[in-house]
Amino acid sequence: MSSSQWADELAFTIDLARRAGEVLTASYERLERIDYKSKRDVVTDADYASEHLVIGAIRARYPDDAILAEESGEHAGVLRDDGSHNGRTWVIDPLDGTVNYANGIPFYCVSIGLVVDDRPTVGVVLDPARDDLYSATVDGPARLGEQVIRASRKETLSDYVVSLAVIGRGGLMRERRIAPLIRIHRRMGSAALALAYVANGRFDAYVQNGGLSLWDIAAAGLIAERAGAVVTSLTGGPWWSSTTKGPRNNVVAAPRAQHGALLEMLAKERTTVQTRR
Ligand code: IPD
Ligand code: CA
Ligand code: CA
Repeated sequence: MSSSQWADELAFTIDLARRAGEVLTASYERLERIDYKSKRDVVTDADYASEHLVIGAIRARYPDDAILAEESGEHAGVLRDDGSHNGRTWVIDPLDGTVNYANGIPFYCVSIGLVVDDRPTVGVVLDPARDDLYSATVDGPARLGEQVIRASRKETLSDYVVSLAVIGRGGLMRERRIAPLIRIHRRMGSAALALAYVANGRFDAYVQNGGLSLWDIAAAGLIAERAGAVVTSLTGGPWWSSTTKGPRNNVVAAPRAQHGALLEMLAKERTTVQTRR
């Protein structure tokens, strides 16, 4: 199917996301425990079980690669004889949309990305509830299942359905001021899945001005980009930098026709990057 240089990694990641998805589906609405990482941040046994499976499979197949996973953090890769690393890091959110999942709302996903030399290179986002599997490699098209997908072709901003999360003080007020300029805005509760939706136009655009971690965006950002969307930070810079640790990442993804207008609109509202979730 794929002539990508990354075909092996892609096939592996697709299979792995499906297996992790089965773990999530098995516990869906049958959770025994929900723990609180903080007042608003929950974690379930399913997060841990999914992550355990994903890390184990990567360790077995690509033992030299590094891993960054939400629940267990950084796992160093094996160094070469000269002390250098192979530059490959798997970036994993074993369950994005945990609050939805724990409350029985079927909008959540598994997100697995492979970053090579600080460049997102393979990305898979699986929505187990719909069995929707979004994927892309840096040298190929974005797909939903087998189907090649493209971002929205709408020309007019007032027609846009936007995944809009302006977080921080005054965020809701800013959203209210942006609302009349677009068709409608939504906050779905799974950043990775909402960003993947940009790849086939379910969302015309995606905006979140912070609170995102690398594992939220590694796979979905690449998928949106390979579907033709322009993906940047809130200030129009690169959306990906592995040195942006913590929930400081921020993304604006939109078709070229309106990406600049969205950035301008956010700047006009004095929307700044937020560093808390
Ligand atoms: C969160 C969700 C949420 C987004 C947060 C993320 P989690 O991830 O994607 O939609 O607004 O910034 O941290 O905790 O469900 O994996
Ligand atoms: Ca997440
Ligand atoms: Ca998560």
